[in-house]
Amino acid sequence: MRKPIIAGNWKMFKTRDDALAFIYAVVNELPSIDLVDSVVCAPFTVLRDLVKRQGENLRIGAQNMHFEEQGAFTGEISPMMLQSLGVSYSVIGHSERRDMFGETDEAIAKKLPAAFNHNITPILCVGEHLNERENGSWQDLIRKQLIIDLQNLSSDLVKKLVIAYEPIWAIGTGKTATPEIADEACGFIRGCIRDLYDQETADAIRIQYGGSVKVANIDALMAQPNIDGALIGGASLVAEDFITLVKAALK
Ligand code: 13P
Repeated sequence: MRKPIIAGNWKMFKTRDDALAFIYAVVNELPSIDLVDSVVCAPFTVLRDLVKRQGENLRIGAQNMHFEEQGAFTGEISPMMLQSLGVSYSVIGHSERRDMFGETDEAIAKKLPAAFNHNITPILCVGEHLNERENGSWQDLIRKQLIIDLQNLSSDLVKKLVIAYEPIWAIGTGKTATPEIADEACGFIRGCIRDLYDQETADAIRIQYGGSVKVANIDALMAQPNIDGALIGGASLVAEDFITLVKAALK
């Protein structure tokens, strides 16, 4: 049995005051961490404030990190720095970083072991553009992303990894993948993990769906056998919705 994991990705939203208001509103309302992993991936500027107030049932994540511990990398944040703040997760390879900031699969392959080395669980994002969905090349694309991204990880680490299937055509568009399409893609990813590692690893890894997940559609997505959780952008910004989205994982 895989424990569900619901993660908010705030992207570049919320000042410190906004972030504090959110955490005070949610922290005592979340279900036990024994039943569901609740995560908020916030801007670097508020990570420490959130970690201090995360309570027993919430964990805090970053949205990106460098793969080196330190060095002359102006503007970057290292896994060692995140660990020193008490950060538990980091999104790695989000499509917005791949498409707008030139993040490569080769860099992602270095970031994943670096995160684990600092006790940070990576949430690796993969997914296709609309044209790759329409021309039928989405499976080849995702398989290629996984082969390169995971090249430095042993099966023991892959079992602890979280993968988010985020079709780019569904992000911020209001156009959610149907539960069947999302489940098919998450099942395809699980099959790739079995091919690259073994059945035990494929059974252990948690795979989220992300892309216009909201209160109105999370139940149908979570009911799918290959979907173990959700990575949620816009809807995770509203405290009340975040609580409802996490609770949907218990059904
Ligand atoms: P939305 O939920 O706003 O579509 O964003 C999805 C996403 O990119 C989460 O990482």
